[in-house]
Amino acid sequence: MNIEKIFIASDHAGFELKDEIKKFLQTLNLTAIDLGTNSSEASVDYPDFANLMAENLKNQNEYGILICGTGIGISIAANRHKHIRCALCHDIYTASMAREHNDANIIAFGARTTKPEDAKEMIKKFFSTEFAGGRHLRRVDKLGCCRAQL
Ligand code: RB5
Repeated sequence: MNIEKIFIASDHAGFELKDEIKKFLQTLNLTAIDLGTNSSEASVDYPDFANLMAENLKNQNEYGILICGTGIGISIAANRHKHIRCALCHDIYTASMAREHNDANIIAFGARTTKPEDAKEMIKKFFSTEFAGGRHLRRVDKLGCCRAQL
């Protein structure tokens, strides 16, 4: 996988997992550009961070990680942007399929539903799995998004 940039963002509920994932990425020789939030104390709104992610992630080989309490709100918000394919993942299989079949450019987690060790395994899988193309490209194109915009 050609990875030019990785952005990471969360709301307050995801702040601690975001920090842990940033450190983990370094062990994989990957660096994430942190778009906030910067504390678990101040309550913030997950759509603001999903929107910030969509504003920053603009190119084909750029990827993102989004975290909120369940991963639901922040993934819904991210997917309202045409060039984003954000997959809320809960296990290695969904992390793998998100790349292989859906060409997801963002993986989302719920910090209140996913153990940090599981999130790390999903990250390893997501960032080492290529899009399969072929019939999956036809289907991704039918999402009306976005590959062309990137
Ligand atoms: C914040 O309490 C929580 O609602 C948010 O992190 C997220 O889980 C929403 O989907």
